[in-house]
Amino acid sequence: MKRNPTQLFLWLLVFLSDAVPFSDEKSLRERATELMQNTRLIDGHNDFVLRLRMFYQNRLSKVNLRELNKTHTNLKKLQAGYVGAQFWSVYVLCSAQNKDAVRLTLEQIDVVKRMCNSYEELELVTTSQGISDSRKIACLIGVEGGHSIDSSLATLRMYYDLGVRYLTLTHSCNTPWSESSSKGIHSFYPNVAGLTAFGQEVVEEMNRLGMLIDLSHTSYSTAKAALRISKAPLIFSHSSAFAVCNHSRNVPDDILRQLKRNKGIIMVTFNADVLACGRKVVNVSTLADHFDHIKKIAGSESIGIGGDYDGVEHFPEGLEDVSKYPSLIGELLRRGWNETELKGVLRENFLRVFREVEKVRDSGLMDVGEREIPQEEVQNSCRLDLNNYRLQTATSFGFPSVAQSFSLTLVIVVYVILYYES
Ligand SMILES: *[C@@H]1O[C@H](CO)[C@@H](O)[C@H](O)[C@H]1NC(C)=O
Ligand SMILES: *[C@@H]1O[C@H](CO)[C@@H](O)[C@H](O)[C@H]1NC(C)=O
Ligand SMILES: *[C@@H]1O[C@H](CO)[C@@H](O)[C@H](O)[C@H]1NC(C)=O
Ligand SMILES: *[C@@H]1O[C@H](CO)[C@@H](O)[C@H](O)[C@H]1NC(C)=O
Ligand SMILES: [Zn+2]
Repeated sequence: MKRNPTQLFLWLLVFLSDAVPFSDEKSLRERATELMQNTRLIDGHNDFVLRLRMFYQNRLSKVNLRELNKTHTNLKKLQAGYVGAQFWSVYVLCSAQNKDAVRLTLEQIDVVKRMCNSYEELELVTTSQGISDSRKIACLIGVEGGHSIDSSLATLRMYYDLGVRYLTLTHSCNTPWSESSSKGIHSFYPNVAGLTAFGQEVVEEMNRLGMLIDLSHTSYSTAKAALRISKAPLIFSHSSAFAVCNHSRNVPDDILRQLKRNKGIIMVTFNADVLACGRKVVNVSTLADHFDHIKKIAGSESIGIGGDYDGVEHFPEGLEDVSKYPSLIGELLRRGWNETELKGVLRENFLRVFREVEKVRDSGLMDVGEREIPQEEVQNSCRLDLNNYRLQTATSFGFPSVAQSFSLTLVIVVYVILYYES
């Protein structure tokens, strides 16, 4: 078949517009948007409910979550950012450790549930299938910090029953059983290194329950130990690459390789301080450098997104709130990431991990963890000493203790001696 010059020219035009869309900013933006409409984001970490406590004492009746502008997050912006599922972090300050951390955690779980039940845009889910089926913004709950379980496997189980689907093993404080990446911020349990025997039991119990293990904020030895022990893939819910910015919150290459072997994912955070190590200009290029690096070391299938909106102050230029995710996807398209890789980053990689975690749970091979942490490892004056408590309770209901019987005998003996001497 012979073509005339006009036809050839049109052919060339079609070919060029297909092959070189990378130079056209507008079309990148359109491609990102189109991709995200079909593959909505699952974000690993958002601290919005911490703001609800700080600004409104969790009084949802006082605030309209659709249009709230004091925060990085509101419902309209989540929709504009094509967020399909959000892990809401239920976080309580490390200073609540050994005080009322459990109550505060329950109150944060309560506010997530009330929020997600009272807005039609939201829906609480607890399974990978629930995320896949949801046409709304699926709400998931993550507990950020091992101090929230007060060294109790039963408390961990009850959180699972309430719908919690990940636990971050530490926040910025050591717990009696796990070491944090932050040194010197808090003075809790300074001698704990990595995971203790009880900490290993926590990891095993999470595998058994089907709760995701989150390694953001943990020390490298904690992360390595958990990656070694866990029968299921792990996540970093909001961390970035140490090789790009050497912040202790970021993940070094050897752990990225270990994570790849574990088939887990690192959900890259947008926190400007850990992305840029104090550099002045922080923009979407800075963030994309972390993505490129992690892809080089561990492959795109090891990557997700965990913005950390409302958890920190500084975000890259152009990524100021939860409506801005498409800018990142546009930049990654510009850098040659293909749609399969980006669908993985947005959604599929996390779903793969979550399904695998559920599969390990369903294998039903493990026994319920009944270990208690040794009292001397907790050193918490708020804990009731149950051994003494039992003695006191028993005596008050009629049975004299050994000590009481002894005292009574002594009194009688002394009385008898005194009687005969007088
Ligand atoms: C928040 O900002 C949007 C857009 O600027 C505006 O339409 C809306 O009324 C604001 N909402 C509140 C509660 O201030
Ligand atoms: C990060 O790199 C800077 C400059 O090379 C160095 O001074 C600093 O000690 C490093 N920090 C860590 C945590 O390695
Ligand atoms: C980000 O900032 C760097 C350094 O100033 C600049 O070279 C780059 O073009 C910026 N990227 C974008 C997408 O604005
Ligand atoms: C996308 O990139 C991956 C490598 O990361 C490759 O295996 C896959 O074939 C590519 N897909 C397309 C559609 O080009
Ligand atoms: Zn955090």
